[in-house]
Amino acid sequence: MRIIHAKNKEEMSKIAAQIFIEQVTNKPDSLLGLATGGTPVGLYDELGKSGCDFSRVTSVNLDEYAGLPGENENSYRYFMNDNLFRKINIKLENTNVPCGTAEDLQAECKRYSALLNKLGTRDIQLLGIGPNGHIGFCEPDTELFATCSVVDLTESTIQANARFYNDISEVPRQALSMGVKEIMDAKHIVLIAEGAGKKEILKKACFGKITTQVPASLLQLHPNVTVIEATGLEEE
Ligand code: PGA
Repeated sequence: MRIIHAKNKEEMSKIAAQIFIEQVTNKPDSLLGLATGGTPVGLYDELGKSGCDFSRVTSVNLDEYAGLPGENENSYRYFMNDNLFRKINIKLENTNVPCGTAEDLQAECKRYSALLNKLGTRDIQLLGIGPNGHIGFCEPDTELFATCSVVDLTESTIQANARFYNDISEVPRQALSMGVKEIMDAKHIVLIAEGAGKKEILKKACFGKITTQVPASLLQLHPNVTVIEATGLEEE
């Protein structure tokens, strides 16, 4: 793992944006894996300001809430359209997010996994890290799923996401998420994390034992991971 220590969120976002801009400049038809959450907002702003040409880029997102249509402000489709896609010249038809309102969620997971297979290895996969060490919505457990699955969100994730809702009872309990094998199927994984609250879990992910109880620790097995952090993490 290559770890870059940023001074603050702004610097983290700028460094991460530079990686994406270089990727798309060198390979205009890049396949990018994207993420949602509070952490990537600054990075997406930077990409919007960059003027970089995304017209030939294809994107795949990590996950989506079960039951939320793309028009719902809390859906990840809405988040992506609002925070990134409307700011760059990517073609919306080349952007992919699992469909949270599919009648048969299991079938939707199969469709998404087949799509990932068809698109092939991503050039970059962006990741955040949950306070519980999740990546995508691969939640800590004794076993993790390899391919796209319907997942029950943990209490910690529901609480972390409650900040976006009027009431915690409105937070979806389930999501569709890429599996760990699919998340790892990228040439380069870029994980961003900021805020002192993420320092301990990031330390476990980067330097701790590899365990399914900290899904991000599995990234230690990937040959090309860049962590850009503004959590105050110290090297071990
Ligand atoms: P956050 O979420 O960026 O909102 O902290 C990260 C994650 O859960 O992956």
